[in-house]
Amino acid sequence: MRKLAIISDLHADINQLQEAELLLLVEVLQDQAVTHVHLAGDTANHLQQLLEIVMFLEQQAFTVTYNFGNHEMPSLAGEEEIEGFADANFLNQRWLPLNEKQVLLSINGWYDYSFALEKDPAKILRTKNVYWYDRSIQRSGSDPQVEARILAELTVNLTKLAAAKKQVILATHFVPKKEFIVYQTGKYQRWNQLNAFLGSEKLGAVLDQFNHVQQVIFGHTHRRFEDKLIHGTRYSCRPFGYYYEWQLTRDFVLKNHLVEKYNPLKIRTILKNNQAAFQTYRKKHLKAEFAQGMTLIEY
Ligand SMILES: [Fe+2]
Ligand SMILES: [Fe+2]
Repeated sequence: MRKLAIISDLHADINQLQEAELLLLVEVLQDQAVTHVHLAGDTANHLQQLLEIVMFLEQQAFTVTYNFGNHEMPSLAGEEEIEGFADANFLNQRWLPLNEKQVLLSINGWYDYSFALEKDPAKILRTKNVYWYDRSIQRSGSDPQVEARILAELTVNLTKLAAAKKQVILATHFVPKKEFIVYQTGKYQRWNQLNAFLGSEKLGAVLDQFNHVQQVIFGHTHRRFEDKLIHGTRYSCRPFGYYYEWQLTRDFVLKNHLVEKYNPLKIRTILKNNQAAFQTYRKKHLKAEFAQGMTLIEY
């Protein structure tokens, strides 16, 4: 029996995951008897750091594959490199057989604003260019055009795999289903604007057309969900996320009565003011956080 671990949004730089922390991740993977690790994007802000982590995990005797998230993309030289980065471990619109029946297919993915409540693409683009990390990513064409190209290629690949009678485990960075999008009301409503950049409803619609897509694993939302079964496909979303969004951080802050109401965006200052205690707590609970922030698949 072999086991695949899919990890998204490790954000090794923002989360300050040095070798000591990565060794804790390795312990979690070894405890779970994982044989293959797939990194599903936002592993780090720079390609170089992602490649170092891939090499580090390979040295620990795991098979390692990856796709990009939006966080790696500003450090890539445009469309060609984003979609076709020349590295055997990079899986984008490519698959790796897991056994006779199953394959791991992976795509970076993208977004087309279909999760936005706002319907004017020009307004959405303005929001993106002011607020969103992705504004410096060089892509060919508008976001909906990029996503349409990706979905056309994915459809071809899924058709090929259906003809070959393969069951597909699909890893991607971006959200394929509205069921994983949170629409805020009241004073948090303005956050809904950012849903435009989370993924594509059309990706979910493509997946609905095929019966051989067994499981889809993604992240990018930085929210963890229970698995959902939609049209016979299991959807898993358990990103690791930023340190100020972790369960351990929430527990640390609440147990020590450092805030009355937990707001992840205001927590960084509180953590800074309690740095030594937080570091101790983090070290103790990081393995549990890693275990919650991944999806395991036996094959
Ligand atoms: Fe992320
Ligand atoms: Fe992301």
